[in-house]
Amino acid sequence: MEKILLVMVALLLACSEKKDSFEEPNYAEIVDFYEDIQPILENNCVACHNEEGQGLGDFTSYENVRMMAPLISASVHDGRMPPPVADPNCRDYKGSEVLHLAQEDKDLISKWIEQGMEEGDPSTALEYDRKTFELEDADLTVMMTEPYTPSFSSENNPGNEYRCFSIPHNRTEPFYITAVHPVIDNHELVHHVVIAKGDSEGIIIDSNRPEGKGCIRRGGAFIRNFEHGAMLSGWAPGMRPVELNKDAGMLVMPDEFIVVQVHYYQNPDAHKQSDQSGVAFRTTDSVDHVVQMFPLGTTDFTIPAGEEAYTVTDDITLPIGYKIWGIFPHMHVLGDAYSFSIGKGEEEKCLAKSDHYDFENQLTYIFHDEVEVPADTPFNISCTWNNSAENPNIIHNPPVDISNGERTDEEMCFGFTLVSFN
Ligand code: HEC
Repeated sequence: MEKILLVMVALLLACSEKKDSFEEPNYAEIVDFYEDIQPILENNCVACHNEEGQGLGDFTSYENVRMMAPLISASVHDGRMPPPVADPNCRDYKGSEVLHLAQEDKDLISKWIEQGMEEGDPSTALEYDRKTFELEDADLTVMMTEPYTPSFSSENNPGNEYRCFSIPHNRTEPFYITAVHPVIDNHELVHHVVIAKGDSEGIIIDSNRPEGKGCIRRGGAFIRNFEHGAMLSGWAPGMRPVELNKDAGMLVMPDEFIVVQVHYYQNPDAHKQSDQSGVAFRTTDSVDHVVQMFPLGTTDFTIPAGEEAYTVTDDITLPIGYKIWGIFPHMHVLGDAYSFSIGKGEEEKCLAKSDHYDFENQLTYIFHDEVEVPADTPFNISCTWNNSAENPNIIHNPPVDISNGERTDEEMCFGFTLVSFN
C-alpha cells in the first residue's frame, strides 16, 4: 500500500512538474528559427536552396522552411542532404566544414520541429551575404563570347546537353592560375561545369556523342595535352572557389584557350533561355610549385550488364617523387563508390574516398597541406559501379555492358589529381 502511495505521489509530482515546465518554458532550451536554425541552413543549404538555386525550395524565409521542415529533417538525418561528398574521415579538405552537417546541427533541427518550430524574434536574424561564392580578387575573367541557347535535342540523354566553349584569355605572356571559380550566368540552366585548357578557339561542340564529338578528349586535337594536365577544375552548384595552397599554380601558355564544358539541364522555367557563363581566375606570373591536373585512373574495364557492385582497382607508380595538392574524383552516372590513396598496408594514406558518389555533385577537393609521395610509392585507384536495373540513374535499361568512354552513358574512373614535381 505504502509503495502504491509513493508511486502515486511520484506520478503526481511528475505530472505537476511537466505542467510547470509547460507554463514556464525554459527559454534557453527553446530552439528558435533566427538564432539556431537559420544559421545552419544559410551555411550548409542556401547556396543551392534559394530562389534561383537548383535545390528544391527556397530556405531563406521562416515560412518556407516551416513548410518544408519535415522533409528537411528527413533529408539531413538519412544523409541525402547536403548531397554526399568525399568522406571527411579520409581527409580534411579546405572548406569541408560546409560540405557536411554536424550531428548536433541535425539534432537541433529535430528538436526545433518537436518543439513546434518556434520562429523567435525576427530582429535577432543575422545578415547573410547571399552565397554566390564569387572569387575574390579575380584578375582574369574569361566569358563565353556570345550567349548560347541549349536545344536539348539529344535523344541519347533527354533533358541534358553538354557543350564546350573555347575562349581566348588574351594574355600575351605565360601565367599561373592560383584560384579558379566559374561565373555562372543562368543558374536555371547550368548544372555543372568542367574547366580545362585547349588549343583551338571558339567552337561549340556537343560533347555528348554520338550527335557530336567529345571536347575534353584524350589525345584529341581540341585539347593538346590532356595527359599533361589540361584539366583545370570542376564545379557544381554550391561549390566555393578552388584556391590552391601557398605558392602553387597551374601554368597557361599565351597560345592556349580556356575551355568551359557546361552541362545544361532542361528546366521548364527557363524554356528557350540563353546562357553566357565563364570563369574567373586569380593569376600570377611566377610560383614555387607548378601544379598540373593529371587524370590518374584506369580505362581498362568493362562493367557487366546487371552487376550491382562491380569494382575495378589499379595502381600507378612513378619512379620519381611528387606532391599532391588536391583531387577531383570523377565517374559517370553508374558510379557508386571510389577510393584514391597512396602507399600500401600500414603506409597507406587516404586521399579521397566515398561510398556515396554523386554524379550531380562532383567537387575538386583541395588538401590543407600537400601530400608528399616518395618515388616508387603506388597511387591506388578503386571505382565501384552499379550497372543494375535497380540503379535509378541508369541510362541503358535493360542494362548493357559499359566500358570506358567520355559520353555520359559510358563510364570513367579518374582522380584528376593536382600534382607538382617540386
Ligand atoms: C550542392 C547543392 C545542394 C546543397 C548544398 C543542398 N541541397 Fe538539398 N537539394 C539539392 C538538389 C539539386 C535537390 C533536388 C534533387 C533531389 O531531389 O535530389 C535537393 C533537394 C532537397 C530536398 C527535397 C528532396 C529530398 O531529398 O528530400 C530537401 C528537403 C533538401 N534538398 C534539403 C537540404 C538541406 C536541409 C540542405 C542543407 C543541410 C541541403 N538540402 C543542401 C541540392 C543541394
